[in-house]
Amino acid sequence: MKIVLIGSGNTATVLGKKMYRSGHAILQVYSRNLQHAKELAAELNASFTDSLTTLSADADLYVIAVSDTVVETVAGQFTTGNKPVVHTAGSVSMEVLQPVSSNYGVLYPLQSLRKDMERIPEIPFLVDGCTSEIKALLCDFAASLSSEVKVCTDDQRLNMHLAAVISSNFTNHLYALTQEFCNHHQLSFDLLLPLINEVAFRLRVGQAANLQTGPARRGDDATIQKHLQLLSEDESLKQLYKLLSQSIQTMYHKK
Ligand SMILES: NC(=O)c1ccc[n+]([C@@H]2O[C@H](COP(=O)([O-])OP(=O)(O)OC[C@H]3O[C@@H](n4cnc5c(N)ncnc54)[C@H](OP(=O)(O)O)[C@@H]3O)[C@@H](O)[C@H]2O)c1
Repeated sequence: MKIVLIGSGNTATVLGKKMYRSGHAILQVYSRNLQHAKELAAELNASFTDSLTTLSADADLYVIAVSDTVVETVAGQFTTGNKPVVHTAGSVSMEVLQPVSSNYGVLYPLQSLRKDMERIPEIPFLVDGCTSEIKALLCDFAASLSSEVKVCTDDQRLNMHLAAVISSNFTNHLYALTQEFCNHHQLSFDLLLPLINEVAFRLRVGQAANLQTGPARRGDDATIQKHLQLLSEDESLKQLYKLLSQSIQTMYHKK
């Protein structure tokens, strides 16, 4: 397919590379910052622009990958007639694209994407479309990029986005706090990597609730108190430790 990419951030960059490497042609990259558009376009063998009024009319698909808060504003600045247009946001309604085209939809990559990532990971796609034809077209397109493609409504996508934030962004924040803790105590965070990998890997074979270990799961109050004592000077980590321990205890107390 011939694609116009609108945006030059993390998602536009990773998806642009994925599309390009999968045999699609990136015709043009738009960014409000011409240098950003130029840099990404150079990697994708595309032309570039910083004006939404000079978008190529020759594409088969227009992909809006800009910050959630400006998807609607950007979408209000151009039209594609009946050429398909999608956005890539988990939490933005598909309907904001209605003014752009009679064929609109969503191509949401359910993955953490960073433009500096060396390896493009597996990316499940949640797709939606305003008609069964556009849904089918987007499913086919997503299937050319990924082996995992699901059609989801706005509500389903929003719930999945929330699930992604809790399971990925929140755990990453806990890693960041743990790294600070390890640095402060001159301990190697890297020693935890086999443990972190093992716990994530186990999810492929079992339910998380059946795999819980640790002092809160065992009801080991003495150890919990020792840990809280160690965190007496780190109020925010202490509060998180208490909250998560209570949540674990509540789950297993109920069972
Ligand atoms: N990154 C992820 O892990 C991920 C995963 C799934 C879905 N998404 C979705 O993908 C979309 C893009 O996210 P991202 O991670 O690529 O964000 P990002 O790296 O912060 O990039 C945001 C892009 O939006 C552009 N932009 C911001 N304000 C603008 C404005 N007023 N007018 C025109 N362009 C503007 C930025 O342009 P400049 O370069 O000029 O600042 C940049 O190209 C979002 O809807 C996000 O929810 C992201």
